[in-house]
Amino acid sequence: MKRKLVVGNWKMNGDRARNRVLLDQILGGMPSGVDCAVCVPFPYLAQVNEILEGSGIALGAQDVSEFSDGAYTGDVSVAMLADWGVRFVVVGHSERRTLHHESDEVVARKTVAVLDGELTPIVCVGETLAERESGVTEQVLMRQLDALAAVLPSAVLQRVVIAYEPVWAIGTGRAATAEQVQAVLSFVRGWLARHVEAANEVRVLYGGSVKPETAEALFGLPDADGGLIGGASLDAPSFLEICRAAA
Ligand code: G3P
Repeated sequence: MKRKLVVGNWKMNGDRARNRVLLDQILGGMPSGVDCAVCVPFPYLAQVNEILEGSGIALGAQDVSEFSDGAYTGDVSVAMLADWGVRFVVVGHSERRTLHHESDEVVARKTVAVLDGELTPIVCVGETLAERESGVTEQVLMRQLDALAAVLPSAVLQRVVIAYEPVWAIGTGRAATAEQVQAVLSFVRGWLARHVEAANEVRVLYGGSVKPETAEALFGLPDADGGLIGGASLDAPSFLEICRAAA
């Protein structure tokens, strides 16, 4: 039975003192029966790796270089992340696609790098409000997903985690409705069925204003395998309640 996965994306938040307090509270209340990871800013990988040691909560990163080493000032390689015990890497988050102009092809190359490094990519896909209102959501998702299939053989693609994050629901407090989410997750599952051997074994997450009061309904959807949590992951009681909803 596939366990649900709840991933906290801290984004550019935290400091050494607050990280310790937040993680001590999370470690003290994490339910069993759910897989959990926290994706922290690069400077805190060492600290959080040490705090999470032996806890069963996985360490994640929020981005990675597509390159393995060399003259790429400011980049961080998959090997460097693995050095600090990172297991999951978010790639293609909408904030990087927009603010850092990451194309579908760059996201796909980063996904290859993560898989080559034996880590697990959490590949973010999703449409903007304008794209949804124009009725092209599925075309956008198809384009983003096809970029992965163009560079990954089926057996390797099988190892990804997909996170559907409608851009218009991120950080707005306005989550997509259960009907909207299930429609897109079902579309993603159908795409997976055409590209991998075991589509149902790929975990497909939802992200975008997931809160304790909405988590149970979202995680109960037929094609939902968990969530990618932003703001609520910075508040231990909220994050733990969301994890309990997935357990
Ligand atoms: O990666 C998760 C993030 O984009 C969702 O943020 O604050 O809407 O839960 P938030």
